[in-house]
Amino acid sequence: MSLGAVNRFEAEFARWAGAARAFAFWKGRVAMYAILRALGVAEGDEVILPGYTCVMDVNPVKYLGAKPVYVDIEPVTYNMDPSLLPAAISPRTRVIVAQHTYGYPCEMDAILDVAGRHGIPVVEDCCLALGSTYKGRLCGTFGVAAYWSFQWNKPFTTGIGGMATTGEADLAGRIEMLCRRELRRPPAKAARMLALQRMIYRLLIYPETTALAASLFRWLTKKGAVVGSSSVSELCTTMPGDFFMGMSDGQARAGLRRMEAIHANLAHRRGMRKVYDDLLRQVGWQVPEIPEHMDPVLVRYPLRVADKDRAVAEAPGNFVELGTWFECPLHPKETRMELYDYREGMCPVAEKACREVVNLPTHARANERVARRSVAFVYGIGPAAGQPAAAPGATLQFGM
Ligand SMILES: Cc1ncc(COP(=O)(O)O)c(C=O)c1O
Repeated sequence: MSLGAVNRFEAEFARWAGAARAFAFWKGRVAMYAILRALGVAEGDEVILPGYTCVMDVNPVKYLGAKPVYVDIEPVTYNMDPSLLPAAISPRTRVIVAQHTYGYPCEMDAILDVAGRHGIPVVEDCCLALGSTYKGRLCGTFGVAAYWSFQWNKPFTTGIGGMATTGEADLAGRIEMLCRRELRRPPAKAARMLALQRMIYRLLIYPETTALAASLFRWLTKKGAVVGSSSVSELCTTMPGDFFMGMSDGQARAGLRRMEAIHANLAHRRGMRKVYDDLLRQVGWQVPEIPEHMDPVLVRYPLRVADKDRAVAEAPGNFVELGTWFECPLHPKETRMELYDYREGMCPVAEKACREVVNLPTHARANERVARRSVAFVYGIGPAAGQPAAAPGATLQFGM
C-alpha cells in the first residue's frame, strides 16, 4: 500500500532533519503541545522559555496547566542566555525550550550542560531555524525533540503547518499514541481555505507588496475566508476545542514540494545574510559577530534601529518589507502578559530588543536589489543608540 502525502512528508522531513521520527500537525504550536504532553508536562510543572518569543509558543505550556518561566536573552543572537539558566531551574522544572531565534543557533553545549546536570530534557524550537547548524550539527538534533513551523513567514511554508521530530524511540511512541487517541482531522473546509491561502502567498507576497498583502490577508481572515495563523481565541490561555489537529493532505503535498527545493532555499538565505552583512558594513553599521561554531540560516535578518515605531510606520510607503518580531517579550503586543506570568522588567535585555529590533527579508523573493533598498531605508532611520553610527564618508550606492 502506498503511503499518503502526510506520511510521506513526515518520512521525508525526518530523513532531512536527521530524526528517527517526524509527526506532522496543523501548526507548529500543536507540534510543541504534542511533545510537551508526551514528556508528561502537567499541572504545576514549570517550563523554561526565552523571554523573547511568540505567545503561541507559550500557549501549549498554559494549556497543560504548567507555568512558563522566562529566561532573558543575550543581545547578539537574541537567544536564551545560558548563564541565567541555573537560577531559573526549580524542583518543578520539567522542560527547557531552546528557541533558535531568527535562525541563530542557541549556545547548545552550555544549555545541555546545565540541563544534563539537573536531568531536565531540552526541546528545541526550530520554527525559525531550518538548516542552521551548531558545531557542524543541524539544529533540531540536540534535544530530546524539536518542533518546526511552516506558517507563511517561516523558512518554508505549507500555508500553516508544523512538525515534531525526535530521535528517541520512547518519546516517538508516546507522541504516536497521543496522536492515535486524540488528534483530530482538519475539516475539509479549513483545508480548502488553506489552499486559497497558499495561492495568495504565491501571487501576492513580494517584498514590495507584503504590507498590502498582509492587510488583505487580515481582512480575509476576519471575514472567515482564509485560515488565520492565529485567532483572537488564541490570545488567551484556554485551549480552543479544535486545537489538537493534524496536517491535511494539501499541506503535506505543499511540504513535499518545498522539500525538493530545500537546499536552494537554505543556500539563498545564507547568501542573503552575507549580502546584508556586506551592505551594512559598507555604511559602518555594526554587524553581529556570530561565533565561528555557529552557521545560522536566517529566516529574517534582524537589526537594531534608532526609532522602531518610525521605521515600522514608514516602511510600507517605501516598499520595504520590514518585520516587527518580536514586539514584546511574548509577541504580539496585544498579548495580555499577566495571563502568561510575565511581568515587565523580568527580561530587560529582551525588552530592549523588542524596542529596537526590526528584521529584513531573506526569503526566495528577496535579492540584492531588495536588500539595497531595505538597507538604504534603515540607514535613513539610523542604528539604535550604542551602536556605531555610519562610517564617515560611507559610499554605499543605494541603487534600486
Ligand atoms: C519562535 C516561534 N515558535 C513557535 C511558533 C509557533 O508556530 P506556528 O505559528 O506554526 O504555530 C512561532 C510563530 O508563530 C514562533 O515564532
